[in-house]
Amino acid sequence: MKDKDIVCVCNSITYGQIIEAIEKKGLKTVEEVGDATQAGTTCGACQDTIQEILDSYYKKK
Ligand code: FES
Repeated sequence: MKDKDIVCVCNSITYGQIIEAIEKKGLKTVEEVGDATQAGTTCGACQDTIQEILDSYYKKK
């Protein structure tokens, strides 16, 4: 996934915005990402993708 790719269509939140919020705020859950960026807070369809982003982010560390 690239930084400019939209993860959350409802709220136009990109992969880059989600990664930045995870890095800056130490977010660990889909709910925390939603609170910080609004991603996943409307239809919920992107929540699985957000979980995958979190999983791969913390696996790399
Ligand atoms: S696509 Fe993210 S809440 Fe709908």
